[in-house]
Amino acid sequence: MSRAIVIAVANQKGGVGKTTTSVNLAAGLATAEMHTLLVDVDPQGNASSGVGVRPRTVERSLYDAIVGRFSLRETIIGTEIAMLELVPATQDLVGMELELVDAEDRALKLSKALDSVRSDYDYIVLDCAPSLGLLTVNALSAADLVLVPMQCEYYALEGLTHLMATIDRVKDLYNPKLDVAGVVLTMFDGRNSLSHQVAKEVRDHFHVFDSVIPRNVKLSEAPSHGKPALLYDIECKGSQSYLGLAREILALRVEAG
Ligand SMILES: Nc1ncnc2c1ncn2[C@@H]1O[C@H](COP(=O)(O)OP(=O)(O)O)[C@@H](O)[C@H]1O
Ligand SMILES: [Mg+2]
Repeated sequence: MSRAIVIAVANQKGGVGKTTTSVNLAAGLATAEMHTLLVDVDPQGNASSGVGVRPRTVERSLYDAIVGRFSLRETIIGTEIAMLELVPATQDLVGMELELVDAEDRALKLSKALDSVRSDYDYIVLDCAPSLGLLTVNALSAADLVLVPMQCEYYALEGLTHLMATIDRVKDLYNPKLDVAGVVLTMFDGRNSLSHQVAKEVRDHFHVFDSVIPRNVKLSEAPSHGKPALLYDIECKGSQSYLGLAREILALRVEAG
């Protein structure tokens, strides 16, 4: 089997749809029969609970793999979707930055931990925390592609400038192959003219995926049932738009040969 494409879903702003995008993109790829690993790189553990894994029941998490207490493989657990597996996160992960402060390879811990499983998957999706701290730097150092969920609000573009600067720095220091796949517009409200205006501005600067994710109540309900939206209501606009995004991501691989 070939090497997994590792996709970091990143934006230092909270509440822009990173976790919703990570969970539903990963579920979409898995239902397309791509063997997919979702890695929760946020101590809040929302991606874990989003696929039905309660942080309190987790015995081994990403933290254990990063500090070397277990191998990453030993932290992987199954989900309701056969082709989708998860590395869960717990609050432990908050302590990582302090513990690793003296470690020379502190930015590459996740990348190294993932090396042992890269050939087991087609896609590895990293759900990042809302910061540009060491955890997110680890995710960017481990990734092939960055996907940036963005809500069409007035200050959204300003935040992107900081994110792009961080991506460039990680590229220079740790990961020359890192590429920005593009921006995913989330919680899009077509009736709001500001949304269209911001979307146009983003398109002037970045590749924006054709699949625009609408504001959709089913997408926000699904996590409380511990399910990706696809399993909660496959017909809803939210599920369908994330399936479209998964198809666009799959097409990148075909284009790249
Ligand atoms: N397209 C959408 N429509 C409606 N609610 C959404 C949508 N995307 C995300 N949400 C909700 O918005 C909140 C923030 O989304 P989340 O994916 O957790 O963002 P982040 O991971 O960037 O903090 C969550 O309550 C989520 O359920
Ligand atoms: Mg999140």
